Amino acid sequence: MAISILGTGSAVPDKVLTNAYFETIVDTSDEWIRTRTGIRERRMADEKTVSSDLAKEASLRALEMSKVTAKDLDIILVANVTGDTPFPSTACHLQAKLGAKGAAVFDIAAACSGFLYGLEIGRTLIETGKYKTILLVGVEMLTRITDYKDRNTCVLFGDAAGAVILKKGSKGHEILSVHLGSDGSLAHLLQQPGGGSRHPASHETVEKRMHFMKMVGNEVFKYAVRAMEDSAIRAIKEAGIKVGDVDFLIPHQANIRIIKATAKRLKLPPEKVYVNIDRYGNTSTASIPLAMDEANRKGLLKKGMHVVLTAFGGGFTWAGAVIRW
Ligand code: ACO
Repeated sequence: MAISILGTGSAVPDKVLTNAYFETIVDTSDEWIRTRTGIRERRMADEKTVSSDLAKEASLRALEMSKVTAKDLDIILVANVTGDTPFPSTACHLQAKLGAKGAAVFDIAAACSGFLYGLEIGRTLIETGKYKTILLVGVEMLTRITDYKDRNTCVLFGDAAGAVILKKGSKGHEILSVHLGSDGSLAHLLQQPGGGSRHPASHETVEKRMHFMKMVGNEVFKYAVRAMEDSAIRAIKEAGIKVGDVDFLIPHQANIRIIKATAKRLKLPPEKVYVNIDRYGNTSTASIPLAMDEANRKGLLKKGMHVVLTAFGGGFTWAGAVIRW
């Protein structure tokens, strides 16, 4: 059964944090950030904006492009680890804001791979025959859990949302394959240690800055390169195509060096790889749908193209997918 992406949407906050700003708050330089990560600037939401606000903006754009209304939605899936509240899910808050009465809703926590996990969940739910139309959103407000005293992480992250509408049938951009994987034994290398059942919020967890993200960047880097390359290759095989058939790559935007390594493995020249990390930094689960929406609206994705998506995130989790545009 064919399952397709009908339309895309995205949203980013207006406020821009440049590398020059970080030079004023931690011991870093524009040159270090650009050469080690590829980031020039990132976006930060204001205090009043919550994840479901960004998610709503992106969703309305995807609904409009898809010519679908909120009332048509059977399910809303929201991938995120920085939701409005620990519970209820961000999907509940989004459902209320969209007025998608009666839709079933839930969140997916797979960090930066969350959008592709959602793609597989959405696709297989439609395959059951029980659901026809699904809104899938990747939204993250990592600036809310970023420690602006830690130069190792604070320069990397930004806020954003991206959304797609999934529908039964081949009208749209058909999902040919999705490959998922994980290794939970490496969870300690990238995590937010405080606030869960292991370290519930307390004065001590706040004093020890445990509600901020902690990352052993260079360790994560090594796994990320291998996992993103391997996930892409697995998804390409599962789609029944060859590396030489790939027309375009939309990778998770964590580091320009990881993106270049993945492109090299897929033998793709720079013009066939979408990069926006320079403008948004790492927006976790929002990064692929944000990049996909930009590439789509710029007309870079042509009908029939084989588009590969690949991601890696905390968990560790990883994922790859192939879309026939
Ligand atoms: N400015 C200046 N120097 C810095 C900065 C900074 N902002 N950050 C780190 N450094 C220093 C370190 O302190 C270290 O100094 P030392 O040698 O004196 O100890 C030196 O730079 C090298 O540090 P490394 O961590 O080895 O630098 P690396 O080249 O690995 O770059 C980075 C760090 C950018 C974090 C990289 O490792 C990376 O991108 N990792 C992967 C991130 C990722 O993919 N995350 C997954 C998804 S995120 C999610 O799921 C939420």
